[in-house]
Amino acid sequence: MRDIARAISGQYNAITCYEKLIRLSPKEDERKQIMEIRQDEINHYHEFTRIYVRLTGQSPRIKKEECPDDYKKGLEFALKDEQQTVDFYLDIADKARNPAVKSAFIRAAQDEQNHAVWFLYFWTKIIHKSE
Ligand SMILES: [Fe+2]
Ligand SMILES: [Fe+2]
Repeated sequence: MRDIARAISGQYNAITCYEKLIRLSPKEDERKQIMEIRQDEINHYHEFTRIYVRLTGQSPRIKKEECPDDYKKGLEFALKDEQQTVDFYLDIADKARNPAVKSAFIRAAQDEQNHAVWFLYFWTKIIHKSE
């Protein structure tokens, strides 16, 4: 349950962080993609919260965290966070005995892996431009 609470906080922070990235992004196509990613995080947030409330009867406490104010740094932050989140969610799925919890975290891990690739792509484009 502690891991699920941590996952919910992570989702909350990703939602606010990606809102910032959308504002900082200079490109329309990147903005649109990050909006889609942000919508996935909102769906994860709601799904994990439903699981948490069902299993504990309590609402989770959110621990807020900051993310960078610069687009390039923000993309790097996001791609590392997404990569770490894949491992974290698969770990939760391994430990979960409830099959619905297991499948929710496996499915979310697949989304995070996809997000990581998008952020890596946008970040790589900036790196190459500034060389
Ligand atoms: Fe997520
Ligand atoms: Fe994600």
